Amino acid sequence: MDSLIVEGPARLSGEIQIDGSKNATLPIMAACLLSDEKSVIRGVPSLTDVFTMIEIMRHLGVKIKLEDDVLTVVPDGYKGNEAPYNYVSTMRASICVLGPLLAKTGYAKVSLPGGCVIGPRPIDLHTKGIKALGADVKVDHGYLIARAKGLKGASMHLCGVYGSSVLATANIMMAATLAKGRTVIESAACEPEVVDLAEFLIKMGARIRGHGSHTLEIEGVKRLYGAEHHVIPDRIEAGTYMIAASITRGDVLIKGCEPRHISALIDKLSEIGVSIKSNPDASIRVRAPRSLKAVDITTLPYPGFPTDLQAQITALMSTAQGTSVISEKIYPERFMHLGELNRMGAQAALEGDSAIIKGVKSLSGAQVMASDLRASAALVIGGLVARGETQVSRIYHLDRGYSNMEAKLSKLGAKIRRIKGKQ
Ligand code: UD1
Repeated sequence: MDSLIVEGPARLSGEIQIDGSKNATLPIMAACLLSDEKSVIRGVPSLTDVFTMIEIMRHLGVKIKLEDDVLTVVPDGYKGNEAPYNYVSTMRASICVLGPLLAKTGYAKVSLPGGCVIGPRPIDLHTKGIKALGADVKVDHGYLIARAKGLKGASMHLCGVYGSSVLATANIMMAATLAKGRTVIESAACEPEVVDLAEFLIKMGARIRGHGSHTLEIEGVKRLYGAEHHVIPDRIEAGTYMIAASITRGDVLIKGCEPRHISALIDKLSEIGVSIKSNPDASIRVRAPRSLKAVDITTLPYPGFPTDLQAQITALMSTAQGTSVISEKIYPERFMHLGELNRMGAQAALEGDSAIIKGVKSLSGAQVMASDLRASAALVIGGLVARGETQVSRIYHLDRGYSNMEAKLSKLGAKIRRIKGKQ
């Protein structure tokens, strides 16, 4: 298992290019299963989650290749309809093949994802949705097995205890494209990645309205065609580097991003004193002063503050003046990074679903362990300003969602290197 060694403190400056969105790419890849024809997806990031999805598609019998950032998918006559445990256990987003497989082949067998380090991850909304479309669903030997002799459009309310679900919305929207008649999903997720998926499906011939709102309407069609698409920029990658620039009190131009998709972060960074300028050429300049103010943040479904930036902003607030309260309303147990940040000298305590963070003057380098994708990014961000050496181990989590993070940060002036095969 690789580690990252970060020597701090650094001040980041320069320009950085943002990749295509991981969370848009994965369901769009799954959507290709709805057609027999070739699709071409551009702007695809080189990440282990994308490689896992490629393996799943190959396992299903799909011909697929990634060259640079262009993914060519030829589903023609694929026969498989099972997503086995070894894939789903490394990437929960594998669940998004459920809807397309069921709609196209009438049968889907997908390993149940189980729990994970950021808390329980139920799939009741996925099953509720496909049942509403007329599927028979059972759980057998750790697998969710869904069968249907032709799905039928239906109206449903797809809201869970923590609000809407991104991938349940994606799954049901995909399944409904080939269902007979009209489907209405109330309380649909309106994340930009769901909108991007809807736009790809429309290019394939789907009839969808209301994407980007909480009410999705899908009129089923008989067949879908191949399509070409360029995925949206990764708002979480962009946000992560904006936070990295801020914690180092740096001056960084983030290129190839969509400022509208990260307005909640822009709002909070501005509130703590970071200067943010969005430019018409899809770039954002981030300049941070020496002293930053504390702020309270609550993670919420889009357009609220994203849970996928909570760990990173927690690292940032540990270096601000005063006490910040960061409440997690999507995954109330997503706080594994607090203990590790405290090893670096942060003063963060957990109270229910909130982290209480007292800003400190400086962090100090330490050996820390990455527990999940975004927590890993938070530890690297902390390491950038910590005095001395920080070793972040288990960074295979990081590679799931950030391509070449060490190269990108080095270009901005960070001292960071990868050690191969170290715990
Ligand atoms: C997606 C993102 C992930 C992000 C999350 C929340 C992808 C590949 N992943 O994950 O990075 O952190 O959105 O923005 O796009 N829930 C239920 N029942 C369900 C499904 C979800 O109660 O059937 C709950 C979850 O436990 C969580 C909340 O709903 O509390 C939101 O989760 P959801 O939007 O489904 O997350 P994912 O789509 O899995």
